[in-house]
Amino acid sequence: MSPFQITRTLPEDATDAALRADVLDGLTSIPKTLPPKWFYDAHGSDLFERITALPEYYPTRAEREILKDRAGDIAAATGARTLVELGSGSSEKTRYLIDALTSLRGYVPVDVSESALVQAGQALVAERPDLDVHALIADFTGALALPDTPGPRLVAFLGGTIGNLLPAERATFLASVRALLSPGDALLLGTDLVKDERVLVRAYDDAAGVTAAFNKNVLAVINRELGADFEPEAFDHVALWNAEREWIEMRLRARTAQTVKVPALDLAVDFAAGEELRTEVSAKFREDGVRAELAAAGMELTHWWTDRERRFALSLAAAR
Ligand SMILES: C[S@@+](CC[C@H](N)C(=O)[O-])C[C@H]1O[C@@H](n2cnc3c(N)ncnc32)[C@H](O)[C@@H]1O
Repeated sequence: MSPFQITRTLPEDATDAALRADVLDGLTSIPKTLPPKWFYDAHGSDLFERITALPEYYPTRAEREILKDRAGDIAAATGARTLVELGSGSSEKTRYLIDALTSLRGYVPVDVSESALVQAGQALVAERPDLDVHALIADFTGALALPDTPGPRLVAFLGGTIGNLLPAERATFLASVRALLSPGDALLLGTDLVKDERVLVRAYDDAAGVTAAFNKNVLAVINRELGADFEPEAFDHVALWNAEREWIEMRLRARTAQTVKVPALDLAVDFAAGEELRTEVSAKFREDGVRAELAAAGMELTHWWTDRERRFALSLAAAR
């Protein structure tokens, strides 16, 4: 069996310091916000996998359809020998790429969720002993030190996760991805597309309440890691479409006025009844916008593929 390596690029105390800084900053700002990366402890990663199978959550199925249909085209266009995947999660859809990339030697999944990386990496090396799998526990918004692997490299960022970054964060992120690309390398980017508001809202507010549990999981993470006393049942899950910004927002709305203590930060946070804490944005895209954002970061859109219902797109881009 080939080696499965897992590297933590950030020491655990740096993760802890980042959580403290984000919680202090987010819970003392107006309106209150938290970055979505803190959803993904082991339980949050499991809940996300359950979301991907929900009838309302079309993005995973739509992206899988494109990957299934286009993996051969992507392999022919890139000839990648290393596949780097940012926010890889379960790496489930990635199998279409891995199987189609006949020159592939190495796979570098990058995620903040150690449990997701271990589960996906172990399953993959068992099936593909010819492949070097080098997982990185890392924040993809920070400086990435990628292992020295053979090119050409294909950097994949699937699942529409780019939509979780705010526009200014996206510009910085895309510029840092561009800096990772050498001549001949490519970026494969998955973006959810603007569509009927009802379809969008349902995808983030499913009937079984799995997305609500996922949203509230961030409170459980803060309770466990920072000793806070959030009562998840004292908050309602809210998903709404912001038509001006063309993004979905997930929020947690306080049912009653309450004070939450965060002992590790020596902080007491007041919530008014009905006050909302924004936990995620999920931007939806159009082809022109994706092309322009890639161009602004020094990349050229070379291919644009959608599923048959045009719900989701995969873009292939090269460094200019
Ligand atoms: C929406 S899920 C998508 C998972 C998978 N790519 C898919 O398409 O189903 C986002 C993934 O990115 C990871 N993630 C979120 N923010 C991250 C960050 N700042 N750095 C690294 N990984 C992150 C999460 O742990 C999760 O696995």
